[in-house]
Amino acid sequence: MNLVVVSNRVTRGNVNEPMTGGLAAALLPVVEKSGAIWVGSSGRVRDGAQKEPFAEVEALGAGALAMLDLPAAHYGGYYEGFANSALWPALHSRADLISASQGNYLSYREVNAFMARALLRFKTADTAFWIQDYHFLALGAELRGLGVTQPIGFFLHTPWPARAVIEGVPHHRELIEAMLAYDLIGFQTQDDCDNFLGYLSSSLGIEIENGAVTSCHGKSRIAVFPIGIDPVKFARQAAKAVSHPDVSRLRRSLNGEKLAIGVDRLDYSKGLVNRINAFDRMWTLQPALARTVTLLQIATPSRGGIEAYGNLQNELARLVSDVNGRHGEADWTPIRYLNKGFSQTVLAGLYRTAQVGVVTPLHDGMNLVAKEYVAAQNPTDPGVLVLSKFAGAANELDTALLVNPHDIDGMARTIAVALSMPLPERRMRWEAMMTRLRSHTIQQWFADFVDALQGTRVRPGVAMPPVTEPPASWPLRSANAGARYN
Ligand code: G6P
Repeated sequence: MNLVVVSNRVTRGNVNEPMTGGLAAALLPVVEKSGAIWVGSSGRVRDGAQKEPFAEVEALGAGALAMLDLPAAHYGGYYEGFANSALWPALHSRADLISASQGNYLSYREVNAFMARALLRFKTADTAFWIQDYHFLALGAELRGLGVTQPIGFFLHTPWPARAVIEGVPHHRELIEAMLAYDLIGFQTQDDCDNFLGYLSSSLGIEIENGAVTSCHGKSRIAVFPIGIDPVKFARQAAKAVSHPDVSRLRRSLNGEKLAIGVDRLDYSKGLVNRINAFDRMWTLQPALARTVTLLQIATPSRGGIEAYGNLQNELARLVSDVNGRHGEADWTPIRYLNKGFSQTVLAGLYRTAQVGVVTPLHDGMNLVAKEYVAAQNPTDPGVLVLSKFAGAANELDTALLVNPHDIDGMARTIAVALSMPLPERRMRWEAMMTRLRSHTIQQWFADFVDALQGTRVRPGVAMPPVTEPPASWPLRSANAGARYN
């Protein structure tokens, strides 16, 4: 089978460079090894003059990376517009932030159609397509419209909300009917899956039989595939990274204080305001904890052109400065707040240095920072994970200290408990989480989804070959050549 993986954001990947977005960083190591071709946006746009989608193709591990310049006239309406101002807030249960125009919806559909045309270049008789995330809900239907009969799978990295929220998205019905062109639809958690099935049955009147539905496109299977990490590799990286100069400097600067760490994209789904308020409350309620712990909050700016993100950035800057102004001392800054990205290597070292990892989103599909924090710990002296019960990861990491991210007092108390947890309890909790991470790796996630996808359209008696090297027909050139592919 030739696998074509599609996501809006792709990455060449370098563990020593800052990476944007959990999805691209998570996919990179598995896509690289699988021999798949990974198609996504180049981050550049082109005017409408060109007839054909344009892709740059370069080698990526055993496979290839193909990057498209998306159409300039539609990019804003697609990315900042419909994908990130209508779908993203809805998927994270923020119906109050949904903003959508007809123009943005049309641009979203145009970009999905554009991507479908581009993908035809990579289609062979035994190709399977695996589409990632909310940017491409309608891509499967566009591919079917172009005559593609090969298996097409879809995986959603975000949550799927309750019916009343998704119904706040204009054209929800059209979009979700289009999703049924996928043979396999994967979600992070059973709740997400149940919400989606609930919509199909209540809003579309579709009957569900053993996790499968039948529509005008044929049969679609709907299932849960919680994404994982490579904990062994990450642990190795973290053990090495503690001697990285940036990490050593941080350790020296702590003067014996404990470190709590939060690492997030600057996004309203991440619960950053509540988290800062919880630390504020903790230092107010327990003044003895002043000077004993510092919060390092990395909040990497994201989607800055969207008003809600700009507002959040301003609000957080004011809040952090207020908390530091009230609790700080001449020689102690309670919150170290950074608006920039860090390489995976440095992050691994920072996680290992921190006695507490604070991952408190209001809603999150999975949240791989939670898993990486756990994997990065020193087995003989592990830190404590404080985790929102509304992150997908909470289903698996149930020996973390689970918190309600809306309950500021509760979070303040829990962070204080984490800071004073005795070693035997820390080890017991950490070992249970590691066992789970080791048995549900990213490699296993990838293989499980691809296996299930292969099973969806296989004719009886015809076995599909395993994922192999890219076919000779792909016009691969080296990354350095900056090759064009038309
Ligand atoms: C989330 C989404 C990804 C997205 C990432 C970064 O993890 O599920 O699809 O790539 O955020 O967002 P960005 O808009 O910068 O790609």
